[in-house]
Amino acid sequence: EVQTKLEVLNDDLKSRYQRNPIHSIKSRIKKPVSLAKKLRKKGLPVSVDSIKGNINDVAGVRVICSFVDDIYTISEMLTSQTDITLISQKDYIEHPKPNGYRSFHMIIEVPIYTSTGKQIAPVEIQIRTIAMDFWASLEHQLHYKSIGNATASSSLTGELKHCAETIASIDLKMQEM
Ligand code: GTP
Ligand code: MG
Repeated sequence: EVQTKLEVLNDDLKSRYQRNPIHSIKSRIKKPVSLAKKLRKKGLPVSVDSIKGNINDVAGVRVICSFVDDIYTISEMLTSQTDITLISQKDYIEHPKPNGYRSFHMIIEVPIYTSTGKQIAPVEIQIRTIAMDFWASLEHQLHYKSIGNATASSSLTGELKHCAETIASIDLKMQEM
C-alpha cells in the first residue's frame, strides 16, 4: 500500500516537474525468525500479540531520494494524506547518530483491507539520499565484518564517521548545484 502511494506521488511529480524526486523504493516484510529474534533480544514474549504490541517495523519501506530537499518534500506529501497517521519521526539528518548515520525515519499507520475487514498496520519508513544509502549500506557490511576484532572495529568507527561527514558535504554541494 505504502509503496504504491510513493510510486503515485513520484509519477505525479515527474509529470509536473519533469524530474523524479524518488530514485528508488525498497520494501520488505520482516520474517518470523527475525521477529522472534528481535523480541528475545528485547526480553519480550514471543507471540503474535507481542509482535502487534511491541514491533513497529514488521513492514518496512526504504525510499531513496535524489536530493536532501526531496526527503522532506516526500515525507510531508505522504503524511498529509488523510488515511495516513504519523506515529513518530526521527530526523537523523538534522541530528545524525554518533556514528554518522543519516536518514529520516517515520513510523506511520495505514489502513489495510483484508478479507475480514479493515486492519491498521504500522509501517517503518526510512527516507535517505543516494549518498546516505551508499554510506549506510557499506557501514552495515563493514560493521558485520569487524565484529570480534576490537582493534579493527574501533579504528573503523572513526573513519566511518569521517566518511559520513564528507558524504554529507557532497550531498549539500550536489543540491546547491
Ligand atoms: P530498531 O533498531 O528497529 O529496534 O529501532 P530503533 O528504535 O533503534 O530505531 P532507529 O530509527 O534508530 O533504527 C531503525 C532502523 O534504521 C534500523 O533497523 C536500521 O535499518 C536503520 N539504522 C539505524 N541506525 C543505523 C546505523 O547506524 N547504520 C545503518 N546502516 N542503519 C541504521
Ligand atoms: Mg529495525
